[in-house]
Amino acid sequence: MKKGKMKIVQYVIVAFVVVVLLCGIFSILKRLTATSSTDKLSESKKEKGVETTTEKKVDNSIPITKLSVGAPAGNIRVGETMQLDIAYEPADATNPELKWSCSEDGFVSVSEDGVLTPSEDSEKSTVTVTAETTDGSDIKTSFELRIYPEIDPSKPMVAITFDDGPYPDTTNPMLDALEENYAKATFFCLGQNVEYYPEVVQREYELGLEVATHTYSHQQLPTLSASALEEEITKATNANKNATGVAPTLMRPPYGAVNKTVLEAAGNHGLSCVNWSLDTEDWKTKNADATYKQVMTATDGDVVLLHDIHEYNVNAVQRFVPDLIEQGFQLVTVSELYANRGETLDPGTLHYRTDPTTEAQEETTAADTEDGEDEEDGDW
Ligand code: NI
Repeated sequence: MKKGKMKIVQYVIVAFVVVVLLCGIFSILKRLTATSSTDKLSESKKEKGVETTTEKKVDNSIPITKLSVGAPAGNIRVGETMQLDIAYEPADATNPELKWSCSEDGFVSVSEDGVLTPSEDSEKSTVTVTAETTDGSDIKTSFELRIYPEIDPSKPMVAITFDDGPYPDTTNPMLDALEENYAKATFFCLGQNVEYYPEVVQREYELGLEVATHTYSHQQLPTLSASALEEEITKATNANKNATGVAPTLMRPPYGAVNKTVLEAAGNHGLSCVNWSLDTEDWKTKNADATYKQVMTATDGDVVLLHDIHEYNVNAVQRFVPDLIEQGFQLVTVSELYANRGETLDPGTLHYRTDPTTEAQEETTAADTEDGEDEEDGDW
């Protein structure tokens, strides 16, 4: 053999040996890492009290016998998420994986850890969300969910507010109109009426509307003694809590009358005070057409005042809710209005609307109420 050929053969042999060695080392390493990750997997499963399965095959040996899914609310807005409370029995069921479905295909999705998210494409609708076991036990559970449209902060929005209720004969048909149109509003309830008609307040809450307070018995707050003022607010917030389980965060002082003492007392209860920027004066006109026309003059950022205890307002609500939406307004709660305009509602502060162009009007109203000089002693 020539010297050159000998060298080539030597190189080939050396290369072969190197490749064989590398393959050996690689396969050993692969086995080692595989073992350690399986260990980790089984350890974490043990921690959760689930029987260890090192195989990829699903273990259905202990099936689920009972499944429940709790939703914190029966409604959600596109853009929000909701943590579901998922519980199953027995605790050592080997395959707790669930299959989720929605009566409107693709409107909601639920993550592995139970976070529900409505899809951006979902339209306003009431859907049925179903969870189903995947271990062959064939157990299903469902709940209903109202999906409200997403708020676009760049588009006009108004907060319709109702005072002095609830009163079933008039509040309920107004709620029907809001429900039908997937519109939101805020209800400043009187504590004594909440105690009479808690089921109406519960309906407001379940629809995802804002349940706020208008104090307990509609007194001129600045004229009250410290203890009477405290009682008006405490009894009112307790009434809301008893009806819905949730304390209000917004208070509308009767007649819009506030002073420093009232604001401080409200602040001590975590309440922000909200008056209005558009008064329909429904108590004065007592006429559906007049209320309707007033509401339809609303501009972006307005907080609109009317009352849900008047029969003549039912027809007005039935008309202006779809008509405002038709005109491009988003009907939102007071809290949603402020949140979507990046403005805060701190406890103990007073608010009228979110649009800064009416600062002059705000100052005038604030000065009037500070002095206790109301324009008129109306039915606010
Ligand atoms: Ni009032």
